[in-house]
Amino acid sequence: MAGLLAPSGAAHARLLGLGAYRPSRVVPNSEIVDAIDSSDEWIRTRSGITERRWATPEETVQVMSVAAARDALADAGVDAHQIDCVIVATVSHLSQTPAIATTIAHELGTEQAAAFDISAACAGFCHGVAMASDLIRGGSAGHVLVIGVERLSDITDRADRGTAFIFADGAGAVVVGPSDEPGIGPVVWGSDGERADLITQREMWPEALARGEMPHLTMQGNPVFRWASFAMAKIGLEALDRAGVTVDELDCFVPHQANMRIVDALARSMKLPEHVRIARDIADMGNTSAASIPLALERMKREGEAKSGDTALFIAFGAGLTYAAQVVIVP
Ligand code: COA
Repeated sequence: MAGLLAPSGAAHARLLGLGAYRPSRVVPNSEIVDAIDSSDEWIRTRSGITERRWATPEETVQVMSVAAARDALADAGVDAHQIDCVIVATVSHLSQTPAIATTIAHELGTEQAAAFDISAACAGFCHGVAMASDLIRGGSAGHVLVIGVERLSDITDRADRGTAFIFADGAGAVVVGPSDEPGIGPVVWGSDGERADLITQREMWPEALARGEMPHLTMQGNPVFRWASFAMAKIGLEALDRAGVTVDELDCFVPHQANMRIVDALARSMKLPEHVRIARDIADMGNTSAASIPLALERMKREGEAKSGDTALFIAFGAGLTYAAQVVIVP
């Protein structure tokens, strides 16, 4: 038997740069309430959302991803040639194959980086960060670009009361690279396929297309709300524990922006101290699924709520059901 050389990588990995793309079209609650027999007040009270962004036809998944990625590369001071792997987390790239990661890698000018998409819904970005960290530490890549991007407006039924006011569009990206110190804690992740029907495509593509429609998302809001508010707090605390960080040592909490009430419930259940800054990007961005955590962190940095070197907790959860949480050092 030949003696293979074992792969070996960097001692640690960390986030080196962060980027975001917010679509240009602002959609206030007033624009959507008639179609779902709702009101601005109901939407604000139940979800904390006042407006969201829906992409224009020109703001494609590719366009938004490349813009966010260029931002992240510039922020990291890393050239596209240094990227060995591009991971795109999305559920709203509407072509089955090829993965959109390959054309994004090409447009950015990487040297034929490995490129693939992952489908883990709203938890996709945190899955990507975990994989990037392991790829770097395992020696499979030097620098990895992780993008979370969605155009959920394409697959949201504007007349569906349970989803029309929640889902939105945008892109966020991070560059992950080698580090002397730990910058990404152990991931706590998992799935619960028994409850796959709680958030799902309403029907398969052929059935929807036969009716001249897109295969829209459907969600049982109440059980999702309860699951996210209670079960995910335990996952967050486990991620802190595994990273050796206490709630008192935490600077920022950046949960998936699903619903403002879930954000508040998680912070309460985890007994986060007053000093922990909490991401609240959902108020004017809606739920952008895989894009929500990098978008929320980008805003916190821009507005001075998070700074480079801070310790932040990510918790993401969504269709599948899927979830992932990790502690990171803010780039
Ligand atoms: N506008 C106005 N009224 C609405 C409505 C809407 N869009 N949707 C439902 N209602 C009404 C219902 O008819 C019901 O009325 P009733 O009490 O007279 O029967 C009432 O509001 C409560 O409905 P319910 O479905 O129990 O609402 P809720 O409090 O669970 O809030 C969500 C709905 C969607 C805001 C909430 O369940 C939620 O946020 N879930 C999680 C969503 C989420 O995070 N998804 C992403 C996970 S990645």
